[in-house]
Formats: sequence, C-alpha cells, structure tokens
Amino acid sequence: MTCEINKETEQQLFFHNYARLPLAITHGEGAYLYSSDGTRYLDMISGIGVNALGYGDSRLVDAIAQQAKKVIHASNLFMLEPQFRLAEKLLEISGLSKVFFANSGTEAVEAAMKLSRKWASLSGNSEKKEILSLSNSFHGRTYGAMSLTAKGKYLEGFEPLLPATGNVNLNDIADLEAKAGDNTAAIFVEFVQGEGGVHKVSSDFIDALTKLRAKHDFLVVADEIQAGCGRTGEFFSYMHFDVHPDLVCLAKPLGGGLPLSGVIGAEKVGDVFAAGNHGTTFGGNPVACAAGLAFVKALYEDNLMENAVMTGKQIKHALEKLAGKHPQIQEIRQYGLMIGTTVNRDASYYVQEALKRKVLVNATSQNVIRLLPPLTISREETQQCIDCLDEIFSEET
Ligand SMILES: Cc1ncc(COP(=O)(O)O)c(C=O)c1O
Repeated sequence: MTCEINKETEQQLFFHNYARLPLAITHGEGAYLYSSDGTRYLDMISGIGVNALGYGDSRLVDAIAQQAKKVIHASNLFMLEPQFRLAEKLLEISGLSKVFFANSGTEAVEAAMKLSRKWASLSGNSEKKEILSLSNSFHGRTYGAMSLTAKGKYLEGFEPLLPATGNVNLNDIADLEAKAGDNTAAIFVEFVQGEGGVHKVSSDFIDALTKLRAKHDFLVVADEIQAGCGRTGEFFSYMHFDVHPDLVCLAKPLGGGLPLSGVIGAEKVGDVFAAGNHGTTFGGNPVACAAGLAFVKALYEDNLMENAVMTGKQIKHALEKLAGKHPQIQEIRQYGLMIGTTVNRDASYYVQEALKRKVLVNATSQNVIRLLPPLTISREETQQCIDCLDEIFSEET
C-alpha cells in the first residue's frame, strides 16, 4: 500500500517540526519547480538559498553521475580526489589555510565552535572559553549552534544551552566593547543575517570587532552559510568589509544541492585539531564534493556573482516602485540576491497569496518577505515575481 502525498499523511508520518506548503514537488527546471498536478511555480527561494544554479544544470548532473559511477562513499579513512579539488579551490578563493568538510550548516558551526574552544585552550588562559554571537542571528539547530542562535522561538523548551555562550547586540559597539574580553574565544558573525530578516552588520561594528580582536586575541568566525558562495555578489559576504576572519563556515549551495558544508580556517588555527578531535562519517562525501566543484566552476564561468549584483539591483528598484504605490511595504533591504522586504503584517500571508499565483516566496522574522532566488534568475523571471507581488498588494484587503 502506498500513501497519498498530501498534508494529511504528512501529519501522520512525520514529526511536526516543518510547516510545509501543501505542494508535492516532482521536478524542477531552471528557476521553476513543478508539482504533481503539472503546475509550474517560479521559485524565488531556491531551496532556502541552496539551488544557486537553478534546477537541472547539466554540468552539475554530469559531475554527480560521473562521480557516483566511480565511488559514492568511502569515508575519511581514505583520501578522496573530489575533496582535494574542492578544498584547493576554496583555499584559492579565500586565501585561507585549511578546510574541514561536514554535511550541514549547523555541523559547520559546531566544528567552528569546537575548533575555537580547542584553540583557546592552548592559550594558557583556562577561562578563555566564551563564544559570542550577535543578536537576531541564526547559526543552526544543534545544541552548540542553537546556543549561538539569539532568537527565542528557536530556543524555547530546549534549555539549558551550552555554557559560556552569549550575545552582543547587533551593531552596538558599546555592547561589544563591554562583552568581548580576554576570556572570549570567538565571536560568530553573519555579515548579512538571513533568517533574522536580511540585515547587514555595519562597517563600524566590524572595524571595532577587528580592533578588539587585536587587543584580546579571539577568533572572528564568519557564518557564510546563507550569504556566502556568491549570493551577495562576492564569494563571501565578509569580502564587502575590511576584515580577515579566522574561520569561515559555509554550506547551503556549496554541494550544488547535495548535503555539504565546510569550515575554512586561517593559518593561526591550522594545527589546532589533532586526529580524532573532530570528524563525521559522511563529511566531504565525494559525490557532494564533485557537485561542489561543478557548482563553484559554474559560478565563475557564468558570471553569476555579476548577475546577483545586477539582478538584485533591478529587484530592489522594482520593489521601491511598489513601495511608492503600496503602503504595506515598510523597508527593502537588498544585498545581491538576498532580499528582505519588511511589511506591516505577518509575511506568511504573502507566501500563501503568491503560492496561489504560482510564485514561491518565503517569510522570515514574522514580517519580512524574503527572496533568495537562484543566482541564474533572469530579468523576465524577476519581473514575474514583481508583478505577482504588485497584484497581491493591490488586491489586499
Ligand atoms: C546563517 C546560517 N547559519 C547556519 C544555518 C544552519 O544550516 P543548516 O540548516 O544547513 O543546518 C543556516 C540555515 O539557514 C543559516 O542561514
């Protein structure tokens, strides 16, 4: 007996931790997803910022198929060529020194937290354990990453959190100066906060952070899981600032849609982990790394970062025009193809209304409509999304 793919059976089969849309997806093509009844949806959220090349890129599919024919999994007991190739590419792009591969964003954050504590333990200051993050940030849902995730809704009922973790108010230099000190091991920063509603950290705050790092010798960790891999127009969003992070976490588009994440580190932390200190069975899976390499190559070959800058600006301009007509729009924040529009009601209303019009958008931080389209998105496709939003705002009661 096979069950129906619908909301009712979803509720029966699964824990209720996802608020899935009532759409059974069968396949995708370019910037479009198709549901089981054959309807085509423009995807302006791309698997929450994962499918940067859109759906069905033949280079990606071929890389996956070819590697799958060779070896799908062998484990980190061995040396696997796709891992080496992707690692050297990421080091070339970042100018950093070492790589660790895992499977998901939260695992990359866990690895960076462990590495930070281990690094601090070698400093001779036995109190140097504190790991800080910024208010309104999101770093993941495992215990360490969740302890750095500053939002109540992700934490309620799960306490106690990891000790010696805390928050600094975003862009509040006085708070940063008060909280960062010799006992700080690391400060995690999303240079553009994603789940928090698309907010950029200020340059002044980052300047203050780097000055304090020089004084207190802690690690600056860039969480590039959502904003990285080209989405904001630079490979890493920290590249828009005058800063050199010690550790960089990345995931989401890195594996071209397969589960892959990584931590890249500066020379300063290169020798911190010894064999057995950290690891994961599937981390750096050769098929995921082959896909990752195909994704990174395509990002450069197709000038997708330039497209992110150009198309992102077009979307912003179009949204500003809508804001002139529709008072529901309060603020537009756009960094490449990471776009948040604050509205004056629960943004999930717009998700539902857009769905009726065959466009997929996302709501975050309660009143923010978030767009994270594929980096391949065309002008015509973005216009379809803008027209859809225009219609919803016009018809809204
Ligand atoms: C900035 C940031 N860090 C960490 C994570 C966690 O990644 P994952 O869901 O792959 O565990 C996310 C996911 O949205 C994220 O946006």
